[in-house]
Amino acid sequence: MPDVAISVILGASVTGSNKIMNELQELLASIAERLAKNPDRGQVADYIPELAKVDPNQFGIAVALADGRVLSAGDADTSFSIQSISKVFALSLALEKTGEALWGRVGREPSGDPFNSIVQLEADHGIPRNPLINAGAIVISDILLATRNPAAVIDEIVDFIRRAAGDDGIRIDPAIARSEQQTGYRNAALANFIRAAGNLEHEPSQTLEVYFHQCAIVMNCRQLALAGRIFAFGGRAGPTGDALISGDRARRLNALMLTCGHYDGSGDFAFHVGLPGKSGVGGGILAVAPGIASISVWSPGLNRVGNSKLGTLAMEELTAHTGWSIFGER
Ligand code: DON
Repeated sequence: MPDVAISVILGASVTGSNKIMNELQELLASIAERLAKNPDRGQVADYIPELAKVDPNQFGIAVALADGRVLSAGDADTSFSIQSISKVFALSLALEKTGEALWGRVGREPSGDPFNSIVQLEADHGIPRNPLINAGAIVISDILLATRNPAAVIDEIVDFIRRAAGDDGIRIDPAIARSEQQTGYRNAALANFIRAAGNLEHEPSQTLEVYFHQCAIVMNCRQLALAGRIFAFGGRAGPTGDALISGDRARRLNALMLTCGHYDGSGDFAFHVGLPGKSGVGGGILAVAPGIASISVWSPGLNRVGNSKLGTLAMEELTAHTGWSIFGER
């Protein structure tokens, strides 16, 4: 059973009493304390040289509520590369700009393959299975390029995330973008293949410039949890703020995150955690408890499918204690 007081937050008041907030804060602190000592931390991504330099002995967690309050523990103020978590924000922006026509160029099915896989593209005639794998995100970059040049599209993505988080300090780490640009042969292969199949309208170099820069956005757990509120609260970053995306889109983006957000580990994440979520090889995970909270966690070591090892464990512990799984309490 979940802790009773914390599960009261469910449905009822996200402005919960101080007692509930204190219990949630204690829960985050105890998760962070335990995981900080865990020696089995997974492997830091080393195929992007700049990410290989990150100290694996870090762990942060943050929970953002509708009213903008953030509870956090561990290294929640340390910035990290959000990598593929950017895909869900770029997709949101592309949907707002171009509407549902986007789905003619990218699917909505889980791939069951690694995030950078190329094998399905040939059978699927250059239409990526979904927008959250690399091939799909490259098509989304191409769609965003329809009205602007790469530098302007990159600014637009960063600005969208800044507005979602309510934080103008969010930025790109140029060293990480360069590191990917210099070593991203696999992404170049994906982009060239998609272009040959007729599903990229711009030169692969331009599309990849956007893609590599969005992956190089750096944020801390607090900022990421705040930005994720658009998915948790019907498109709005705050109770009185403008909607950045429609409530209908937020709901559908959550469905995509649940089925595709952890690549070939998506089934396992749904099984153990029970929340829509998006991971990145920088070790971050954004998860959404619809109507309750936006949660982010960061620990740089990855499991065998490229998702944060301790981050996943932390999310599992959190939903077990709060009853926030969308599949019901245990
Ligand atoms: O394109 C890549 O390979 C990276 N920039 C992003 C991959 C990623 O984050 C996959 N996430 N688990």
